[in-house]
Amino acid sequence: MADSKVTLLIENIGQLITMTGSVPRIGPDLKELGLIENGAVAVSGDRIVMAGDNDIVRQTVSLDKDTIVIDADRAVVTPGFIDPHTHPVFAMTRQMEFEMRILGKTYMEIAEAGGGIRASVRDLRTTPREVITAKSRERLDRIIAHGVTTIEAKSGYGLSTESEIQQLEIIRELNDSHPLDLVPTFLGAHEVPDEYRGKADEYIELINNEMLPLVVKNKLAEFSDIFTEKGVFDIEQSRRVQQAAKDAGLGLKFHADELTPLGGAELAAEMGAVSADHLVYITDDGINAMAKAGVVAVLLPGTTFALGHTEYAPARKMIEAGVPVSLSTDCNPGSSYTENLPLIISIAALRMKMTAAESISAVTVNAAVAINRGDSLGQIQPGKQADIVVWNMEDYRELPYHYGVNPARVVVKRGKVAVNNRLTGIVH
Ligand code: NIG
Ligand code: FE
Repeated sequence: MADSKVTLLIENIGQLITMTGSVPRIGPDLKELGLIENGAVAVSGDRIVMAGDNDIVRQTVSLDKDTIVIDADRAVVTPGFIDPHTHPVFAMTRQMEFEMRILGKTYMEIAEAGGGIRASVRDLRTTPREVITAKSRERLDRIIAHGVTTIEAKSGYGLSTESEIQQLEIIRELNDSHPLDLVPTFLGAHEVPDEYRGKADEYIELINNEMLPLVVKNKLAEFSDIFTEKGVFDIEQSRRVQQAAKDAGLGLKFHADELTPLGGAELAAEMGAVSADHLVYITDDGINAMAKAGVVAVLLPGTTFALGHTEYAPARKMIEAGVPVSLSTDCNPGSSYTENLPLIISIAALRMKMTAAESISAVTVNAAVAINRGDSLGQIQPGKQADIVVWNMEDYRELPYHYGVNPARVVVKRGKVAVNNRLTGIVH
């Protein structure tokens, strides 16, 4: 470690949150941050080589004229946040639906009338690829500017073989050309498209027999996801889609129990899913099944907030039952249009009673597990990827408290400064 050339040093850190300890965090361990006061982190290339007491790190590592030194000025430093559930690839936004909801329509009423996901699908299919890519890239700029260094990114606005593949190819292109890392998920079963209305089973045949083999052959996704919901895909249909994906080698994720208690959480546990997401209406049986199977609960309180609903996922009950809990923006044009993961932490605090420490665990180690990156991401310790954020705060408990702002100061991605909000805005 002392021999490797230090390319970046972050010193004079007031609170260095390393997240060293159990992966994932469950129960009371969610509060454990591996906090070092007066710390420093040394990086070589894209890896962390040393993290610990400021004086010890400074005495141990040798710097040369090329080493970039960041004085944290007593600020808080954490691992780069991970957003494990996003739908960032779309062109048209849906502010008219937001307004309709304010005026009394429900999300499902709008969807049943042909709006919602199907409106985004019609738009995506007719928009030039470069336009979709450019708009999506701007979203990634905003995501990383808020201290997020890796996201999971879903397809699901194509819903035809050609258009789903194109969406996944755009995710790949963005991953290759943007500092943010994108972990791709195939969401062909996001909704039944216009041309298959009333023929959901036929659409599932298309997913399983045509889309999935192509997705797998071209290595376009690591996960398969589905909207398991009343009026979309029922439990039996969800099992059929996800069994095919599992047999093809993909990890499983579910949009489960978001609007009704359909039993998606139990199905996710039964099928050995990596995560089940939303879970506003999860039952006690669902909670117990997820805890037993170790399925990560990705909670999306920004969605409940932006839908104008008042009932939030029972985070405290899940934490007490030993479910590994994570948090995400659900960034999408319909139910939650935000790139601001720190804001989600404020909503989680106020509406789900999650403390700052619990939420930091949720968006670091537990989010890493939710995207199968528990080995390499989510912690500041030797050997881990150097994804690190310096925040505009001296006490990590400011994170939920100072709400609605962008609290990120410097974002380091794979050992390089990708964003410097204090100086120049986005610098990558
Ligand atoms: O996670 N619930 C289903 N899918 C998204 C919403 C997608 C949309 O409305 O465009 C969600 O909330
Ligand atoms: Fe979603």
